Amino acid sequence: MNKTDVLYEGKAKIVYNTDEADKLIVYFKDDATAGNGEKKGTIQDKGIINNKMSEFFFKLFKDNGIATHYLETLNEREMLVKKLDMIALEVIVRNIAAGSLAKRLGYEEGTVLKTPVLEYCYKNDALGDPLLNRYHIMVLDVASVYELDQIEHIAFSVNHIMKDLLRAKNVDLVDFKLEFGRDENKNIILADEISPDNCRFWDMTTKEKLDKDRFRRDMGGVEEAYKEILTRITA
Ligand code: ADP
Ligand code: TMP
Repeated sequence: MNKTDVLYEGKAKIVYNTDEADKLIVYFKDDATAGNGEKKGTIQDKGIINNKMSEFFFKLFKDNGIATHYLETLNEREMLVKKLDMIALEVIVRNIAAGSLAKRLGYEEGTVLKTPVLEYCYKNDALGDPLLNRYHIMVLDVASVYELDQIEHIAFSVNHIMKDLLRAKNVDLVDFKLEFGRDENKNIILADEISPDNCRFWDMTTKEKLDKDRFRRDMGGVEEAYKEILTRITA
């Protein structure tokens, strides 16, 4: 398996084409951004941690019957994945109010939600990734209702699986963001990454943040938090 050209370089990863047309190599960088790219920095060894955590969760999801793009871990920063036709949505699931939801609803951060909340954002940097509902998604032709039904089913299953695992590690799963794509048969497949960049993890007892909010909010202890949550999850 050899890299050919760069298909896409994003804020956190570089995606390479390979000599097999249906496979990509994802390289996890240490670069970190927040606020739609306004704040930039690096988190030492983040790429290594996010690659390891994504491998761990993608394998766990596979064991639970959820199809993901994960094929193989190539080295500490690179993962071989199935090439997908990506759906331009960020699918967010929330169990506890934090971040933009706490602001939107006027809830104090940490308020446990009566029911998990699923939100869609349009993956469109120029528009600032706006919140969308199902009607917007249909008008934009981003995904069909049938596809959204599958996406929601998978997203809530992922929430269930992750919450169960994390409870045993004394960690609250506050919220997380998923991305999906279509394979050659138009099946909906879970893609991208599962890491402290796109999940909020809080220690259940102390409520200490073990995720990218430490970077977003200049709280310090960013590298330590990434290491700690990886160790807890994979131990
Ligand atoms: P961003 O685009 O938000 O800056 P990244 O730096 O994480 O994000 O770049 C990774 C890109 O690769 C994202 O645009 C993501 O949608 C895309 N991607 C993730 N998994 C796959 C896949 N299996 N096939 C094709 N593209 C993918
Ligand atoms: P938010 O509270 O800022 O909307 O974020 C909700 C969750 O989604 C949080 O775990 C961080 C994640 N997220 C991303 O991964 N990428 C993004 O661009 C945004 C806005 C949030």
